[in-house]
Amino acid sequence: MSDNSVIQAKRRLDYQPPHFFISTVDLSVKLEDPKTQVKSQLKVIRNGEHRHPLVLDGEELPLIDIKINANSVTRYEQTPTSLTLENVPDEFYLEIYTEIDPASNSSLEGLYKTENAYCTQCEAEGFRKITYFIDRPDVLSEYSVTIYADQKAYPYLLSNGNKVDSGKLEDGRHWVKWHDPFKKPCYLFALVAGDFDLLEDHFKTVSGRKILLQLFVDKGKAKRGKHALTSLKKSMQWDEEVFDLEYDLDIYMVVAVDFFNMGAMENKGLNVFNSKFVLADSESATDEDFFNIESVIAHEYFHNWTGNRVTCRDWFQLSLKEGLTVFRDQQFSADMSSRVVNRIKNVKVIREHQFAEDASAMSHPIRPDEVIEMNNFYTVTVYDKGAEVIRMLHTLLGQQGFKNGIDLYFKRHDGQAVTCDDFVSAMQDANQVDLSQFKLWYSQSGTPVVSVKERFDDATGEYILEFQQINAPTADQQQKQNLHIPIRLEFMCNGEKPSAELFELKQGSQTLTKSGFTEKPTVALLADFSAPVKLEFDYTVDALLKIALQSQDGFSRWDAGQKLFSEYLHGKTPAGSTFKVSLRDIDNLINGIFNDKQADTDWALLAEMLTLPNIETLAQQVSRYYVVELNKARKELESHIANTFSANFLLIYSESAQSGYKYTATQVNKRKIRNLCLHYLAKTDIGDKLVSEQFSASSNMTDSLGALKAAQSALLPCFERLMSEFEQKWADDPLVLDKWFALHASSEIPDILARLDLLLSHKQFNHDNPNRVRSVIGTFAFYNPTGFHAIDGSGYKYIADYLLKLDARNPQVAARIVTPLSQWKKMDEARAELMKHQLTRLLAQPNLSKDLYEKVSKSLS
Ligand code: ARG
Ligand code: ZN
Repeated sequence: MSDNSVIQAKRRLDYQPPHFFISTVDLSVKLEDPKTQVKSQLKVIRNGEHRHPLVLDGEELPLIDIKINANSVTRYEQTPTSLTLENVPDEFYLEIYTEIDPASNSSLEGLYKTENAYCTQCEAEGFRKITYFIDRPDVLSEYSVTIYADQKAYPYLLSNGNKVDSGKLEDGRHWVKWHDPFKKPCYLFALVAGDFDLLEDHFKTVSGRKILLQLFVDKGKAKRGKHALTSLKKSMQWDEEVFDLEYDLDIYMVVAVDFFNMGAMENKGLNVFNSKFVLADSESATDEDFFNIESVIAHEYFHNWTGNRVTCRDWFQLSLKEGLTVFRDQQFSADMSSRVVNRIKNVKVIREHQFAEDASAMSHPIRPDEVIEMNNFYTVTVYDKGAEVIRMLHTLLGQQGFKNGIDLYFKRHDGQAVTCDDFVSAMQDANQVDLSQFKLWYSQSGTPVVSVKERFDDATGEYILEFQQINAPTADQQQKQNLHIPIRLEFMCNGEKPSAELFELKQGSQTLTKSGFTEKPTVALLADFSAPVKLEFDYTVDALLKIALQSQDGFSRWDAGQKLFSEYLHGKTPAGSTFKVSLRDIDNLINGIFNDKQADTDWALLAEMLTLPNIETLAQQVSRYYVVELNKARKELESHIANTFSANFLLIYSESAQSGYKYTATQVNKRKIRNLCLHYLAKTDIGDKLVSEQFSASSNMTDSLGALKAAQSALLPCFERLMSEFEQKWADDPLVLDKWFALHASSEIPDILARLDLLLSHKQFNHDNPNRVRSVIGTFAFYNPTGFHAIDGSGYKYIADYLLKLDARNPQVAARIVTPLSQWKKMDEARAELMKHQLTRLLAQPNLSKDLYEKVSKSLS
């Protein structure tokens, strides 16, 4: 908590190397309530010649004792966030003894106690809540850690690296000592103590080393851990095959905890996961859960090289490890299932969330320049746009060129803390190309618009495309430069095989001339979403239909269909559309999609093609968001499609039936199309009956949840009944109940706020558990357009009221959930005023966290 008037931003350009390094850390942690003793012995070494004092970071830390070379120090300066020692030797041992209270740490940052375990989360700046330290990623140390705790309650005492010693004490306590041979920044430190079920497996590396894999889960949940372990082995193998990267320690541990602020954390040799990204079996988890587990397990594993072996010099460089690691996990997922469908999934995230962030006051480059609270910058921009930037490099250099760049990057920087510039330099030098313009993607925020015009000369057969890039000012940056934008194109001519090419747009305006056409070709632009931009092009409806049904590229087919749906929907609102898409055109599209379905149909792609863009994505396509009108138009179009094509949906619904459950691509895709059919059929006469039947017959979570979602979306009479059956069945399983909480919170019912009150008082709801808070409060704010944007402002007030309370306990989660409120600029005047009013209320709160302060103050300025 801080006094708002003294909150200050840090700036990237102010970076200075650390005045001191810490070569070794010897930690001893005695876990006990309410006082956990933390003793640390640091070997401190002055960096170069200077007379600066040693300044250590520390937050809310009662200092008991401090010694230099075994002599007690009495002269030091302590502030709420630092400890300063003047005139220290050039090299010395520093011993610091502090006491902390993990049980009362509700921020879930630093060392905290969950219901039955102790665990840590140090990224970005949590280590300073455990002990005084130089808490920055360019200070790398070798750690030894000894943990003491009651043996019965905490049989497992874990930290990074290898277990080197252990012993028993007389009072029922025991201890374990760990040593991590790899130097690491303190954000990768981890400690876990608890009683768990343990699953074990092994992985044999390419060089023949046998790695012990250990997965720790809540007691009784062992069966739900198998998929995560399988995913880990797949990830290890993939990284060897694709990037020649082999695991380095002899043991790899993953712990699943229920109380966690985000997805997971890549601590060296000891990942800590939100249990939601570990636990799965067919009854309790959906196909999507299985997918997410595989992808998050891979993500954290891939960090061992991209993040841990080579880490960030400072936090402004976060995308160095996150953008790259997201790209790597996306490539992995694409190899594990369908490349096209995965690409669609990634692009949806960009268009729905990243474009929204760039359009808001929080707009920032993937390498931010100014930060108040680092936790606010674990964003879709840094992660997902960051991954798009890496992907563009991959597109420009090709797989082999990219791989050469990665090889050089590790050759140069293994064991170091480096910058995004270092990464691009390795790519550049390995490929002998000039990436200086490309690098602007790191420093420039905002979503570029690429506007394209076409011309065809009948006489000469020349086809000309005129490209223009528009980089409009953003909240954080007035001046923009031209970017290096790779644009994939496909030319389609009647009766000929389509041809594809890569066009590199570097100037403000640039022309591409193609000759030798006998008729005007149809061009599909931005195939595979080759750059994170918005495209403006006056497609004709016929051209879009042609691309949607005939392009060689699955992504372009999907994208053209989405464009037709979007333009039709905007045309139904005051926002309007320049394309005149009629209901007949939509019918033609869907007819075409159905007719196209062949024996070897890719069911998952078919399901994507038949899904309308969601309301959040639609909102990003227009400058003014007419939430009510758009939502109504979308619902009406779904009903129209459902009733016009009910026979087709019904046919596929029965064709795609299957018995038993396995998480395999074939099965997953069939469940996906089947539940999509049900979603539409729910909006027809037989809806209530069909949905109820699927729900009763289902023995897996994917189909049960599919039924509930269909019932919710179609406002079916059976909805409430099925929901209470579900609630009873899963009464003791909060992780599963999160799905139920979220379905209620996103229901478009008139008395939604009363419903939210009920959910918050549910016996399984817990205000300190981020998963619960996100499933109710987060879902309502992000995914209940009619409730959140109620014209009387009651939805906004509800969120602000909740955030006022949450901020004091868990600022990180509060700052995430405030996002939809901060996006008031797109709303009509009345709503914008109401939203600003709530933001103003938040800002007036004394002791607002830095986290909320940064986001709220920005969105009001
Ligand atoms: N490095 C972690 C990951 O991407 C996430 C850490 C998030 N930390 C935070 N303070 N939000 O896997
Ligand atoms: Zn990550």
